[in-house]
Amino acid sequence: MGSQAPIVIVGAGQAGVQIAESLRQQGYDGGLLLVGEEPHPPYQRPPLSKKWLTEPGASQALSLRGPEALSRRRIELRLDTRVLAIDRAGSRLQLAGGEELRYGQLALATGARPRTLSLPGAQLEGVLALRTIGDSLRIGAAIRRCAAEQRPLVVIGGGFIGLEVAAGARKLGAEVTVLEGLPRLMSRVAAPIVSEAFERVHRAHGVNLVLGAQVAELVGHEGRVQAVRCADGREFPAGAVVVGIGVAADDALAAAAGLACERGIVVDECARSSDPAIVAAGDCSARRLADGRLLRLESVHNAVEQGQSAAAALMGHERPFRSTPWFWSDQYDVKLQMVGLSHGFDQVVTRGDLERPAFSAFYFRAGRLLAVDSLSRVQDHMKSKRLLDAGLSPTPAQAADANFDLQSVLQQARPATADGA
Ligand code: NAI
Repeated sequence: MGSQAPIVIVGAGQAGVQIAESLRQQGYDGGLLLVGEEPHPPYQRPPLSKKWLTEPGASQALSLRGPEALSRRRIELRLDTRVLAIDRAGSRLQLAGGEELRYGQLALATGARPRTLSLPGAQLEGVLALRTIGDSLRIGAAIRRCAAEQRPLVVIGGGFIGLEVAAGARKLGAEVTVLEGLPRLMSRVAAPIVSEAFERVHRAHGVNLVLGAQVAELVGHEGRVQAVRCADGREFPAGAVVVGIGVAADDALAAAAGLACERGIVVDECARSSDPAIVAAGDCSARRLADGRLLRLESVHNAVEQGQSAAAALMGHERPFRSTPWFWSDQYDVKLQMVGLSHGFDQVVTRGDLERPAFSAFYFRAGRLLAVDSLSRVQDHMKSKRLLDAGLSPTPAQAADANFDLQSVLQQARPATADGA
């Protein structure tokens, strides 16, 4: 009887959709229900801080998978539906409004929520965060108002969101101040050489960039934000404030149900949680690596990879996460593409033009390539990705030589692999 209940996926974002579609691709023929809290059918988030921010269109343009495409694959979609609790013993979900849903197996793809400032004034009108379509529309409108009224936009946080929003706001003609708490930009993901390049780019575009800023208070007038005050007394006038200070994995449902959680729902390399009947994928999860470390990645690629692994696990197969992580960001006309994880590098070499900037930084540990960050060097990124996926490495001298074709490392390796050597 229990096998009659559908597989239920909680969360209709990138990871949730991937789990559903991969289940069908892998031959799952039973009931499949995708439950989403937002009112919109599944959509892509990356454009929300990029092109869509400055040129918003119809929300359908962001569509990841329309309701028709899902229903063709017999994936039932329930939007506007909040899951309140998981009853693991009874294999049931409790929904807001009192309804209960039975599940055969369960997948969690609940995503992440923006961290909020716990400072005086953080609740003032005009203080905004970016995660959803509605957030992006509100921030776009606020930027236009700032530009029209010649009031600065203040961005708190110099990470992906903050810097992409800053670039968009400059494009729309608003004055922009970015207040970053640490001494350099994008330090969660980028190495110093990349942070420095983006610091130059933003300053060249007229952004008032303040590093090491300790925000102490948001100052309001009649309930609306007017300025941001730092601990050293400096005050930055603000027509609106965008807070982009990172996200926290949304693991509340899982934690309340007693699943192991640590900075996210802890999963193994096959996306299985501490309960064998429950998988988790995407921003909500934290992956336990073979060496015991916990890895949290926030990216589309991670959602897709883990989604595929989660679907396989639900089918009783093992599909470990193997491919090299990659990320990207667009700021002004600079395209940043990152592949691999550079943490722990002991040598970095570059090829290209650091000033323009149009260069790639290659990170090595003990002579082996760990990661490559490319700024407007798409070919370097593509070739490096192939090398890292194949477990191959150029020497640092080869990587630094712009005349050396990275592809040749792959080509030289091929005959050896074909021989089984
Ligand atoms: P983030 O982690 O990339 O950056 C947050 C930044 O805020 C860090 O530089 C941090 O040092 C700074 N910060 C933290 N607390 C602060 C404080 N009190 N005052 C000043 N600075 C402070 O997170 P972000 O930018 O909020 O992005 C959120 C999520 O959206 C992430 O998952 C990110 O991967 C995703 N995203 C990814 C994009 C991409 O891949 N291109 C684009 C936009 C968002």
